[in-house]
Order: sequence, then C-alpha cells, then structure tokens
Amino acid sequence: MKILAIGANGIIGQAVTRLFAQQHDVIEVGHSTGELTVDIEDSASIQSLFERVGSVDAIICMAGNGEMGSIAEMPNEGYQTVLSNKLMGQVNLVRFGLEYLNDGGSITLTSGQAANHPMPGTAAIAMGVAGVNAFVSVAALELDKGKRINAVSPAIVKETLEQWGVDSSHGIAANDVARFYQQSIDEGKTGHIYDALPSLN
Ligand SMILES: NC(=O)c1ccc[n+]([C@@H]2O[C@H](COP(=O)([O-])OP(=O)(O)OC[C@H]3O[C@@H](n4cnc5c(N)ncnc54)[C@H](OP(=O)(O)O)[C@@H]3O)[C@@H](O)[C@H]2O)c1
Repeated sequence: MKILAIGANGIIGQAVTRLFAQQHDVIEVGHSTGELTVDIEDSASIQSLFERVGSVDAIICMAGNGEMGSIAEMPNEGYQTVLSNKLMGQVNLVRFGLEYLNDGGSITLTSGQAANHPMPGTAAIAMGVAGVNAFVSVAALELDKGKRINAVSPAIVKETLEQWGVDSSHGIAANDVARFYQQSIDEGKTGHIYDALPSLN
C-alpha cells in the first residue's frame, strides 16, 4: 500500500510511520523535515504535494497545531492557528487529496479528546478537534468509490508529557496510539472516530 503520512516526524507520526513502514511504502512528509515538506495552512502547498506524489492508497495526517490558553488570555492568533492549521489544514488535505486517493482508499485525520473531556485552557483546541470529528462524520457520507475517512482522537500522549517534564503515568504511549491508525486503514470502517485512550489497569 502506498501511504502518504503527513506529520511523520512528530511524536505520534514517528510511531505510526515505524508501524506502517514494516509492511507498506510510506512517504514521510513534514513541515521542515521528511522526504517531502508541506505547509497544511497553505492550499497551494497542499496541491503541490499531491501533484508530486500522485495517487495513493491512504492519506494519514498526524500534523495539526493547537494553542492552549484561557479564554481571557488567548489572543486572536491562537484561535486562528487552531482554525487554519488543526481544522482547515486537515480539511484541505481531504478536499485536495480526494482526487489522488485510489478507489477503496482511506483518509485518517487526527483530532483529540479536548472536546470530550472539558478542561480550563483548552477551549480553542476543543473547538478544533470537535470540528475535525464533525467534518469526518459528514464527509464519510459523501465519499464514493469505496473511499473512507476516519479520525483518531488521542488522549494526552505519554511521550508528550515526558517532553513537558511532568508525570506521564496517565498518558497513552505513542506506539499504542499508532495501532488506531492501523485499525482505521485495515478495518474498513468509515465516519468512525477512534478514541485512543490509555487502558485502565
Ligand atoms: N501529543 C499529544 O499528546 C496529542 C494528544 C491529542 C491529539 N494530538 C494531536 O496529534 C497530532 C500530532 O501530535 P504530536 O504531538 O505528534 O505533534 P508534534 O510532535 O508536534 O509533531 C507535529 C508534526 O506536524 C508537522 N507540522 C507542524 N506544522 C505543520 C504544518 N503547518 N504543515 C505540515 N506539517 C506540519 C511537524 O513537521 P516537522 O517535524 O517537519 O516540523 C511534525 O512532524 C496533532 O494534531 C495534535 O493536536 C496530540
């Protein structure tokens, strides 16, 4: 399978590409790193990426920046980043990528748990992840030729908490998150939001 992996060098992206590289031809795409680069905030950059790559069997996006901060303190730019990167960046990957997706192929986007578990300081990112999930649910009804679309909605990742230097015991390991992307590609579901949650011990 030829898989286009956007955000391949991120914490989640590295785990996902490691998993898929065992069996598939994975094209690793980043913003500043990778075989190819793209800026998902720039429609022309997305179109140019697909023109270079051509047809693919799967598109997975593990990119998408969000901003944290209270409503009282979040500047316009924080909301704009969520809208133009996390939300419209991924939506535009679908809009421009669909014609390059082979019949029966799949798209997997990344949302997150912020809208399911409200916490102070996450209003902007919660709005973005809810938007991604809503888009996926409706897009699945419109895709034809056996094409599918899902989202993986991870809880906070263990390696991210480690990077922040805080207790990581309640995080989900990136390798465990990666398995949900595999399910999205392999299981045949569409319009599904895979909640990637740490297992309860
Ligand atoms: N980590 C978590 O705890 C967690 C939890 C829930 C949801 N998520 C979501 O999961 C996704 C991945 O998270 P992560 O922690 O793995 O992120 P990360 O480590 O910060 O990696 C982000 C990746 O996205 C790429 N990227 C950044 N800006 C881009 C742009 N404008 N255009 C194209 N690519 C861009 C980066 O490329 P370069 O490396 O080349 O710069 C990098 O490969 C994000 O959507 C995040 O919101 C993460």
